[in-house]
Amino acid sequence: MTSSKGSIVKISGPAVVASGMREAGIYHRVLVGSLGLPGEVIRIEGDRATIQVYEETTGLSLGEEVVNFGEPLMAELGPGLISSIFDGIQRPLALLLREQGDFISRGLLVSSLSRTLRWNFIPAVKPGEGVIPGDVVGTVQETDRVLHRIMVPPGISGKIREIRPGNFTVEETIAVLEDGFEIKLMQRWPVRMPRPFKNRLLPKLPFITGQRIFDMVFPVAMGGTAIVPGGFGTGKTVAEQSLAKYARADVIIYIGCGERGNEMTGVLEEFPELRDPQTGRPLMERTILVINTSNMPVAAREASIFTGITIAEYYRDMGCQVALMADSTSRWAEALREISSRLEEMPGEEGYPTYLATRLSHYYERGGRVVCLGKEERSGSVTIVSAISPPGGDFSEPVSQSSMRIAGGVWALDSDLAHRRHFPAINWRMSYSLYTDLLDPWFQENVAPDWPRLRAWLMEMLQKEDDLLEVAQLVGVDALQDEQRVVLEISRLIREEYLRQSSFSEVDACCPLQKQVWMLRILCRLNDFLGESLKKGNPLDGLFHHPLLLEAARMKEHPPEDFDAFGRSFLSRIDAELKKGAVSG
Ligand SMILES: Nc1ncnc2c1ncn2[C@@H]1O[C@H](COP(=O)(O)OP(=O)(O)OP(=O)(O)O)[C@@H](O)[C@H]1O
Ligand SMILES: [Mg+2]
Repeated sequence: MTSSKGSIVKISGPAVVASGMREAGIYHRVLVGSLGLPGEVIRIEGDRATIQVYEETTGLSLGEEVVNFGEPLMAELGPGLISSIFDGIQRPLALLLREQGDFISRGLLVSSLSRTLRWNFIPAVKPGEGVIPGDVVGTVQETDRVLHRIMVPPGISGKIREIRPGNFTVEETIAVLEDGFEIKLMQRWPVRMPRPFKNRLLPKLPFITGQRIFDMVFPVAMGGTAIVPGGFGTGKTVAEQSLAKYARADVIIYIGCGERGNEMTGVLEEFPELRDPQTGRPLMERTILVINTSNMPVAAREASIFTGITIAEYYRDMGCQVALMADSTSRWAEALREISSRLEEMPGEEGYPTYLATRLSHYYERGGRVVCLGKEERSGSVTIVSAISPPGGDFSEPVSQSSMRIAGGVWALDSDLAHRRHFPAINWRMSYSLYTDLLDPWFQENVAPDWPRLRAWLMEMLQKEDDLLEVAQLVGVDALQDEQRVVLEISRLIREEYLRQSSFSEVDACCPLQKQVWMLRILCRLNDFLGESLKKGNPLDGLFHHPLLLEAARMKEHPPEDFDAFGRSFLSRIDAELKKGAVSG
């Protein structure tokens, strides 16, 4: 790595201009000033480079030196990523905090991955074998849950000359190719460049979240992109964290982007304690946190989502199903805006740079389900779920609008629902998923043939409820016919018992797909039951207090393990009641 030097001629917040930078390239990594603050070149004019600095620039003076390393900002990729907590430019936060107290001293250069930890490497290929990019030369058991595949880096191929098992640090050579190229446990990759793959796959497998409103009503594909826009306090963070806890994925990357420091403290304290509801093992065994609070420098925040997505792609390349949560991309866009205004760029809508939408799509485009590089057939995916916090909850602002144009799933949060403590406060009129039709065959084959029919029924009931409530506003509920009041009662159950799902309930925080189906079958059958009972002349008020209805109102607290049996028996009890004829409770 060759380095060249320039000197500071202008300082404006996180943006610094240096002259003598003829050898610098766009996105090259630099160290600024005598403190050696890390930064990145974002514009070049003649021999002048504009640099975004990842740390506070107070105290820097004109004339101080800028060192250019001649390479872009890189992520370190190898064993030790899982369970780590990084800042936006992949410095290990826990380590920084431990060594530096509460204040991270500026200009501290630390490796992302430990240089002293040793990992047990088990080769998967032999000397003499030919390898191409993406081929797995061996494995390291990174955590109980994650088998880390050591891959031939992109652009490298040849015949294996040497390879040996043993305990290695990430910098030691584990295999040598015939041309002398040394493969190590760690590879490096420029964060702003997507990692290569063979080809994209159709997103036809679901990203299973354990949340009924997401899985059943607005399902998103594995490798899909979803956004969670919502005003202040509507439940974005709780939604993202529930996904990080319960979603089915091999690896979770959680990016806390510019949220308040105390929210992040919550994450830092809570996550290491969390256990997988299925296995009882710590969830950090599959989780990587990238944390940038609002009091950390904006430029590092801007970089954080690219650091996060690069790590996500790396695990995808191994054949893992990766889910990336970002909370929130609005804070990220604000960082972009701040830097842009320091650069005195021509502002676009609401002061955001004109390239906001392009930059957002660079990020979302890196999601997807792909066939990985390498001879072995394997596929991996990166699913992206981004929270968006539009000021005043107004979705017409540029970040929400640009994101909606790109995302395949929109899970829109609603302040009214949140006020009424209907959580998750997903507005079913504004939310949508473009993946539904692609995913239905999977749900029908693997969960229940009636899956799409149940969803259609649910949506139809909510629509009918809307229409009836409009009528009721004019004429009063009492003027409605009994059949119409049945619709209102069942829709109420759908909303309050089915769509509402507390993230803090021990039993209901995560709802398996089978339970989701049975709950809806029960509600659907109860609807028939009320209708038929009415026809037989049973009075409505008695029916509304029928024990079966009361029981249905508590069913989400029934443990999922034996919900199949519970659901089956519930349906036959409804049928038995109907056979009895008179059913008033
Ligand atoms: N799924 C849920 N189950 C139960 N309670 C919830 C749920 N979602 C949100 N809440 C309640 O709403 C509160 C606010 O949620 P949260 O902090 O996630 O909002 P936010 O949109 O991230 O807010 P901010 O705009 O401040 O970032 C939570 O503290 C919790 O009490
Ligand atoms: Mg929040």
